[in-house]
Amino acid sequence: MVVSAHPEASRVGLEIMRKGGNAFDATVATQFALAVVFPVAGNIGGGGFTVYRSADGETGTLDYRETAPATAFATMYQDSAANVIEGLSTNGHLAVGIPGTVDGMVKLHQKLGVLPWAEVVQPAIDLARNGVVLTQKEADGLNSTRQAFIEINKHTPYLTQKQKWQAGDTIFHKDLALTLERIRDKGREGFYAGKTAELLVLEMQQGNGMITKEDLANYSSVWRKPLEGSYKGYKVISMAPPSSGGIALLQLLTMVEPHNLSNYKWQSAEAIQLITEAERRVYADRATYLGDPDFVKIPVQALLDKTYLKERLSTFSMDKATPSSEMKAGKLPFTESDQTTHFSIIDPAGNAVSTTTTLNGAYGSKVLVNGAGFLLNNEMDDFSVKPGVPNMFGLVGGEANAIAPGKRMLSSMTPTILEKDGKLFMVVGTPGGSTIITSVFQAILNVVEHNMTMQQAVGAPRFHHQWLPDVIQHEPNAISPAVRSVLESKGYKLEQRKPYGRVDAIRVLPNGKLEAGADPRGDDAAAGF
Ligand code: GLY
Repeated sequence: MVVSAHPEASRVGLEIMRKGGNAFDATVATQFALAVVFPVAGNIGGGGFTVYRSADGETGTLDYRETAPATAFATMYQDSAANVIEGLSTNGHLAVGIPGTVDGMVKLHQKLGVLPWAEVVQPAIDLARNGVVLTQKEADGLNSTRQAFIEINKHTPYLTQKQKWQAGDTIFHKDLALTLERIRDKGREGFYAGKTAELLVLEMQQGNGMITKEDLANYSSVWRKPLEGSYKGYKVISMAPPSSGGIALLQLLTMVEPHNLSNYKWQSAEAIQLITEAERRVYADRATYLGDPDFVKIPVQALLDKTYLKERLSTFSMDKATPSSEMKAGKLPFTESDQTTHFSIIDPAGNAVSTTTTLNGAYGSKVLVNGAGFLLNNEMDDFSVKPGVPNMFGLVGGEANAIAPGKRMLSSMTPTILEKDGKLFMVVGTPGGSTIITSVFQAILNVVEHNMTMQQAVGAPRFHHQWLPDVIQHEPNAISPAVRSVLESKGYKLEQRKPYGRVDAIRVLPNGKLEAGADPRGDDAAAGF
């Protein structure tokens, strides 16, 4: 089964498995297909994380997060008075981190794939060349970004046209097909060297960006140990830093575990308070302690210590909200020597892959590499551009996540796998910037604590708190008027926002069948056999 942000990408992954490919082949094929059919977030110009659990129970993760260029520096988005220059880390050439996706897909396939590389890349080339029919959501996205595409690029990007895109229009990705052919024929070298690299570096030079030929040649994805913990007998396998996702998810689960959430009704005032107060504390820790583990020492064990987390939530009372202004990062008892898209795959043998990749904002930096047909990320904004100054997701950070050459920016991506009784139970993840962690958290709680089906769990309206701003952000219908009054009387601020996140997940039922949850907020679709 494949559950992804686009029916065509899910179909491609499924076809690869029908041909005898495993979940890793399907991951590569789905990722490249998303780069064609879902340009808002699907990418080869971005980066991401894959968490896997093979059929024999072995687990692992691959980090293909973008890195800062060699000439990047901590204050590069500040003016001479140390004020942050608005838009510099989010739009245009300076916002771009060195892309990691292609290196990641090559490494994943080399280690774990079974079909020939060319065979898993080819479906994306076919989609790019034969054209992709736009859905309403995609047409709307391209139309609302049209002006930014034109202003930011020196050439006229093919993603724009004179008239508005309509649902049902076909878009042909001619240059992207050629780039994907170079990747098909030369693997890593098809992107990080030769013609694609030349076009990318030329694009950077013409737009005053930083990425050089050497930056591309030096990029390398990294195998990392997964972060593993437990919740009520379920084993939780998630992404370690440079994502904050795994640590934060495990902190949240550990904090709420003793409170037996199933005693409270779903979205009751008590459940919302408990979850909010845990989230407030976890995001305060995130802002202070987390960054790239290759550059800063992250106190992982201390942050996940049960006593620390119990103590941290001990100031919580059902009587009133804890203001975020009174909540700093926790004092750790000891120290030890940061638009996105997600897909979940399980193959017939039982290999499971949870992959979240990103351009960061919708269409990334909006920079389209002239002649190469792909968009570049604006991941540099996931660094802390100045301590205490919020990024585009309102997240603040400090020294641990400051910009440095070759460093990976902190992420919230939370590709996760759950086991129950030693067997595969769930594959889950989502896009959504800072809300990724809490959406994955709620999807898990909806199934484990509130007995929802996978589809109900991903569709249910969500809420989110991230320490700062001190507000419970919630989707329409997530919180009833009666519960809202109770929460407000206790000092909570609430703010309705547009639906967020696209949780795509698979659950293994007791009879071994797979149950999909494809988020109804997008065009997300499940495909299985
Ligand atoms: N760019 C979103 C994240 O990595 O958290």
